[in-house]
Amino acid sequence: MERTLCIIKPDAVKKSVQGSIIQMLLDAGFKIRAMKLIQLSKAQAQKFYEVHKERPFYNDLVEYMTSGPVIPIALEKDNAVPDYRELIGATDPAEAKEGTVRKKYAASKAENAVHGSDSVENGVIEVGFFFNDSELV
Ligand code: CMP
Repeated sequence: MERTLCIIKPDAVKKSVQGSIIQMLLDAGFKIRAMKLIQLSKAQAQKFYEVHKERPFYNDLVEYMTSGPVIPIALEKDNAVPDYRELIGATDPAEAKEGTVRKKYAASKAENAVHGSDSVENGVIEVGFFFNDSELV
């Protein structure tokens, strides 16, 4: 079974739509293997998004991801990575399909409600960033 990482981001937690997003994940057939509510430190956010450190939006992204609590969730399902990306929709909510998480709940390309792993390899790495083996049920 494939694993992928969802992070419900600060804008979605502030709007109290985390319950609705979790229900969408469950309705789509994902199993939750681990989940927690945390406040990311600046160092953690910088490390998690290290791949984007040369991008112009990097500092704003780190600031936004530390602006309030987030909910990392380890998800499992056959084809978890592509199926989850389909469920959340495009990075920019203006381009996201109807019925996707970002179309419903994202405010902008930057404040886009949820994170999703972009490959099977990164899914494993990103789940490991937030959860150790004993926390994965
Ligand atoms: P995420 O799936 O978490 O992966 C990287 C994040 O960077 C992305 O969602 C957005 O929150 C943010 N991001 C990507 N592209 C842009 C952009 N052009 N401007 C601002 N933020 C962006």
